[in-house]
Amino acid sequence: MTLLTDNPIYDLFLVVTALLVVIFAYFHRSYQYWKNRNFPYLEPTFPLGNSPYLFTSTVGFGLDTVKYYDEMKKKGYKFGGIYTITSPALVLVDPDYVRDVLTKDFHHFVDRGHYHNERDDPISAHLFSLDEKKWRNIRTKLTPTFTSGKMKMMFHTVLETSKYMTDAIETSALERKDIDIREFLSCFTTDVIGSCAFGIECNSFKGTEAEFRHMGREIFAVRGLRILNLILISKMPRLALKLGLKANNDHVSKFFYEVVQKSIKYREDNNFTRPDFLQLLIDIKNQTKDTENPFTMDQLVSQVFVFFVAGFDTSSSTMNFTLYELCKHQDVQDRVREEVNEVLERHGGQFTYESIGELKYLQQVIDEAQRLFPPLVVLTRVCVKDYKLRNTDLVLEKGTRVVIPLYSIHRDPEYYPEPDKFDPERFNSENKKSRHPFVHLPFGEGPRNCIGLRFGLMQSKIGLATILSKFRLRISPKTDMPLRLHEGVLLLQSVNKLYVTAEKI
Ligand code: HEM
Repeated sequence: MTLLTDNPIYDLFLVVTALLVVIFAYFHRSYQYWKNRNFPYLEPTFPLGNSPYLFTSTVGFGLDTVKYYDEMKKKGYKFGGIYTITSPALVLVDPDYVRDVLTKDFHHFVDRGHYHNERDDPISAHLFSLDEKKWRNIRTKLTPTFTSGKMKMMFHTVLETSKYMTDAIETSALERKDIDIREFLSCFTTDVIGSCAFGIECNSFKGTEAEFRHMGREIFAVRGLRILNLILISKMPRLALKLGLKANNDHVSKFFYEVVQKSIKYREDNNFTRPDFLQLLIDIKNQTKDTENPFTMDQLVSQVFVFFVAGFDTSSSTMNFTLYELCKHQDVQDRVREEVNEVLERHGGQFTYESIGELKYLQQVIDEAQRLFPPLVVLTRVCVKDYKLRNTDLVLEKGTRVVIPLYSIHRDPEYYPEPDKFDPERFNSENKKSRHPFVHLPFGEGPRNCIGLRFGLMQSKIGLATILSKFRLRISPKTDMPLRLHEGVLLLQSVNKLYVTAEKI
């Protein structure tokens, strides 16, 4: 059978050609977006736009932003347009614009644009991904959960948990084994958040029983059909939502639902309470009288879930890269250890919540490590109301994604001379004061910054202080140096593992 000519091969040729013309026309038109609006922009190429990867993370940006930032900086742009496939996004270069978006004009940029599907995958509707109205409601309810009083309440659980890690390091030190320190730190933070958010002992250092550690890996695992799923979610979220695609694997959601429900039932049946996040959330649920905005079981489970997801890898990444630099700079490691020992001595040989706050030099070291290796490589926002950019006539349209390339800003020589050099003195109070406040943002900024900042810093400081008070760490010859970083992921990770050796002090 033929359609247009007498020859089916010609027919096929004509249909394919027509299809290609339509596709090219669509791309060509899409690539006029920034030009038509007089924005500075980087020239896209067919078919990926400016993005070097088809598949990055669910947010869609990783270290590829370094390329955009460097090119825009060279051209003298304060911000500039790019395309991921055909979708326009604005990259901010100048920290004054970063400040406007994150704080001053936040009401135009309330959303993060993170995929979630409340209907088919309720666990994805958590604080990190929720949009405007629902986000505000939940953030207001959760904020009191992270006060310093509440941190103090959980301090001992974190400290106790750090003992499993130092015991495991001690065993490896005695056996003269190399330690995959990132894995040890992930086990520690999994145990901490498991205990504080779910109220259960995760036993991550006990190999096969470590279901939580396994689930931690599963959350970020990308294989099989899930790759296609994530490409659609990151590149065509509206279509993904219509198709009912889920951001999380069913078995992961099921696992977290069951754990939380069992834990709550146990507490209710036994009239049992515990000083942890789960209890605080149960209290919020029971106390919320607001029938228009109740705090439902689905909402409770998804917040516990996001505390786990957002809490364990960011903190282990912070500690991992801090130890990497401390191994390379033994003099700094010695100085941190001296400070830790002095503080311990002042507090009768025991770490307390107050004593951890006295570790000022350790804080500088963490600040500098997070500058070089921010756990989240970019911050994202979505413009929710048309917005005129300051000192310009340019209007950013509602729905446009905004990207803040943290990794690049943190390594810009304009703010940090010799940017690749590890130098904790950059964060002494005098040097800190002399810099633009929006060029160091490892926890984000403004009303939508990291809600778990205090907790993340507390567990990172406890982890580092307990390790350094007991061991000298060195990089093992088994480590493939220097550490190479994964390009296409939102959460910064090295491709090669960091192996260290530990010597008991
Ligand atoms: C060193 C550890 C951590 C780092 C570096 C970190 C970093 C970040 C960053 C960069 C953001 C985005 C902020 C923005 O867009 O302005 C964020 C958001 C968030 N973080 Fe953290 N985080 C850490 C630990 C934690 C912990 C321990 C928890 C929970 C227990 C947590 C829960 C969250 C949540 C729920 C959000 C979303 C907040 C919102 O949208 O309102 N984080 N974090």
